[in-house]
Parts: sequence; C-alpha cells; structure tokens
Amino acid sequence: MENKIVIVDFGSQTTRLIARRVREYEVYSEIITPEQIYKIENVAGIILSGSDLSTKDFDYRGELEFILKLKKPVLGICFGAQLLVRYFGGKVEPLVTKEFGSATINVLNSSNFFRDIPKSSTVWMSHNDSFSAMPSEFSVTAKSNNEIVAAFENEAQKIYAVQFHPEVIHTHYGKELLSNFVFKICKAPKNWKRQSILESILKDGQNIIAGKNVLCAISGGVDSLVAARVVSQLAPKKVKGFLIDNGLLRKNEAEHVKEYLINKAGLDITIIDARERFLGKIAGVEDPEKKRKIIGETFIRVFEEAVHTYKNFEYLMQGTIYPDVIESKNIKSHHNVGGLPESIEFKIYEPLRLLFKDEVRELGRSLGIDEELLMRHPFPGPGLGVRILGEVTEERIHLLQEVDNLYIEYLKKHDLYNKIWQAFSVLLPVRSVGVQGDARTYAYTVALRAITSNDGMTADVFDFAPHDLKKIASMICNNIKEVNRVVYDVTTKPPATIEWE
Ligand code: XMP
Repeated sequence: MENKIVIVDFGSQTTRLIARRVREYEVYSEIITPEQIYKIENVAGIILSGSDLSTKDFDYRGELEFILKLKKPVLGICFGAQLLVRYFGGKVEPLVTKEFGSATINVLNSSNFFRDIPKSSTVWMSHNDSFSAMPSEFSVTAKSNNEIVAAFENEAQKIYAVQFHPEVIHTHYGKELLSNFVFKICKAPKNWKRQSILESILKDGQNIIAGKNVLCAISGGVDSLVAARVVSQLAPKKVKGFLIDNGLLRKNEAEHVKEYLINKAGLDITIIDARERFLGKIAGVEDPEKKRKIIGETFIRVFEEAVHTYKNFEYLMQGTIYPDVIESKNIKSHHNVGGLPESIEFKIYEPLRLLFKDEVRELGRSLGIDEELLMRHPFPGPGLGVRILGEVTEERIHLLQEVDNLYIEYLKKHDLYNKIWQAFSVLLPVRSVGVQGDARTYAYTVALRAITSNDGMTADVFDFAPHDLKKIASMICNNIKEVNRVVYDVTTKPPATIEWE
C-alpha cells in the first residue's frame, strides 16, 4: 500500500519540521538519507529537503533519476528545488542579492499545489543560489517581489518545487501548501492517528516482548519513562530496570523517577549510584569539551557494566525516539543509540523509535503517566556538568540544584513552566561584590535561561514579565547565601546554543 510520505534529508535544519508537519495531518512520514533512496517503497509521495550544500558540488543525479522513475509526486524544497532544475538541464547560480528571511511571493499560475492560497503571501526564504535558466519542462508558478522564481512545477509529471520553506511557521500558508501536496496531489491516506500509534506500539510489542525477560535502561527523562511504561504493560512480571545516577541530575530527580516507576508502574528498578565515579573523573577539568567527553565515556562504561551484571534477559529496552535516530545517522552521537557493547547477546527493543517528543508525551498520557513527569523540560545527557561552568565540584552541584529548584518551582507555581520549552540555571565561575544586611559579600553569579523552541534546533528568548524576573532573582539571593547576583540570558540560538557548554 502507498502509505507514507518520504522526506529525503540533504542536511537542512528544518527537515524534521517537514516530517512533523506531515504527521500533524495524520499521515505517516519518514526521513531518509540520500543513500537510502534506492530502498524506497510503498510511498505516496517524496519530499526533497533543503540543505546548506550547493548543487555545484552535489547534484545527486543518480538518486534523482531513481526517484523520478518511481513516477510518484515529488516536492523539492529550496536545495531540493535546485536539484530538480539542475537535473533537467537548467542553471543554478549564486544570487547577487541573497534572499534570507521574510519575503512576499506572488502566485502566477494557480494549480493543485496553490489551490486556495491567496495570490500574494508571506514566505520564509533562506538561499544563496537561484535559477538563471529554467528547464522547459517546468512552468514558473510564483515569483518573489524581487522577481526571483519562488515556485515551479510540471503538473503532468506531478513534480513541484518551492524556493522557500513551507515547513516553517513564518511561511503564512505553509501548512496549507504542504497539505495540498500531501492530500490533493499525493492522495496519501490518513494512517497516523494518536490512537493508532498506541495500538500499533502495543500490538508490535506484544509480538516482540510478551512473556520475555526485558531489561530497561532508564535515563530519568521522559522518553525512557514512557518506554518503560509500555514495557511494564506488556511484560509486567519479567521487567527489570536500572537508572544510572551520575550525580549530575536535578534535585531529587533519581528518587522521583524511581518512586514513580516502582510505586505507580510496578517496575523493579535499581538506581546505580555512580556519583563518586563520575565526579572523580571530572574533578579539576574545566574545558567544556573534555568534560562532555569524560562524562560520555564514563556513562558508556557504567552502562556496559550494568548490562553485564544482569543475566538471563533477552531484550534491552531503550527510550530512543525519532530525532535520536535521525541525529545518530547524521552528526551527533547520542548515548541512547551509541553506548552499547560491540558484541551483544541480547536484542534491542526501542518502542518509541518512530515518535516525536510530543507524540511520546501523548502516548505517556494515554498510559496514565502523571502530567508533571511528562511535561518536564528536556535535560542534557551530561546534566549539570555542562551548567556549572568551569570545574564541577560537589558543593557547586548542590548549590546549582538548590538554585534551579527554586527557579523551576517558581515557574510551575506561576503557570509559566508549560509556556517555556526549556528553562534552567547556570552557575558561572564568576564572583562579584554585593551587600546583604550590612555586610559586604563576595559571591557567585547565576544566569537564568528560558527559551521557546520547536525542537531545540533554534530558540527564542522567553519574554518574562520584568516583575517575575525580579522576584526570581530576589528569591534566589535571599535563600541561597552563596549567590548575590542573578542575570538573565537574552541570547537566541543562533548565535548562542541553548546550553552554555
Ligand atoms: P544546544 O545547547 O546544542 O542544545 O543548543 C539543544 C538541546 O539539546 C540538549 N542537549 C543535549 N541532550 N545530550 C542530550 O541528550 C547532550 O549531550 C545534550 N547537549 C545539549 C539541550 O538541553 C537542548 O535541549
């Protein structure tokens, strides 16, 4: 059955968003690498993503030939559009005046793709190159105000292309355009309903692990928690789990998760206390990359040892989710997907590997997991290790845990926590002069971060009301004597990253 939309990822920051959008229409979408094109089957349509590559260096001619032979609808976005132009013999050249950010396009020819879209609308552009000669196979369907080709198509062959990004929210009719492609052109079936996700995970899981001994690797985050809950539903008596406490978790985090999993989900969980080991390894290390590396490597060692101490299990469950799967294929190595011994005698079970974060939360909700646990903000693998700038000591960890707890509790109490994608505090290796009571102080500075985001790839600063920031600052300084100054980080990503190290 032609049941999915495949998105070929040429390396754009927004590829995941395309997949996310398609799933919002309840159509199953999958992201693949260019090498996987030759294995495409059962597709209703193919989307070629953007990229920071240039078609001068990479033309993917063989891959495009294969795709076009399938005779399925194709939508090229930005770099994807440029690939199509080059393939059909047109010319792609650098623009003199680049188009970045908001632009207005004017639709010249209405078609199925532009059905019900206004003649003039705002889109989001991000390109260095444009088309200096269009192949005769295509008719231009929209131009930007700069008279630059913004969209073209060959309706008979069902090939469509846009120079802008319909997947980002700044393109005002982006959702409608993608929906036109998915439904009017590809005629894709709606097969990705929330309920059907849960049913299919449980049904597949039934076939895989029911009655088997399963070991759950729990990180303390939302994903592994939901995955563990799925497993406990399927193989209630045969599940064991472990959580590595590296000493860099938030205040009481390990206990909270353990409490939930043991008392509410009925899982047999052990907390592996590796605090001393981690802290010993990073003692005296100030360089951020070195810290990250040491924490990552220690995690792998402790993980390997933990797995070896458990005998007689057939499956190891991990909370890997779809963005981890894509990322591990691309740039970052993620501890969920890496970190396993080379020769393993057990099989891996990853019930959430096809889901995005909000789908994981939805699944967790339908399995009855507490809202508070589900809505926790993302937390990096190296934990507070990358939020204590410079040397990490036990005293500093304790200090930051207390500060962060005050900050987060304030956000929860004032209904701000769920409006923010991620909030945390950072302990700076800076002391400054203050005055408390009648005494001069010389104490730490803490930076607060709060951002809004779609998926952590880009981030905007959360707009606090000034009185909230002032109250948080005074609450922190009044309660934590080691801190006498609080600053708010007002940098977006890019140019900054979300974490400070
Ligand atoms: P950055 O700092 O790169 O962070 O803008 C983007 C998002 O990723 C989280 N993050 C990590 N998550 N392991 C993780 O599982 C890591 O090593 C890691 N580093 C950053 C970060 O908290 C933010 O949500």
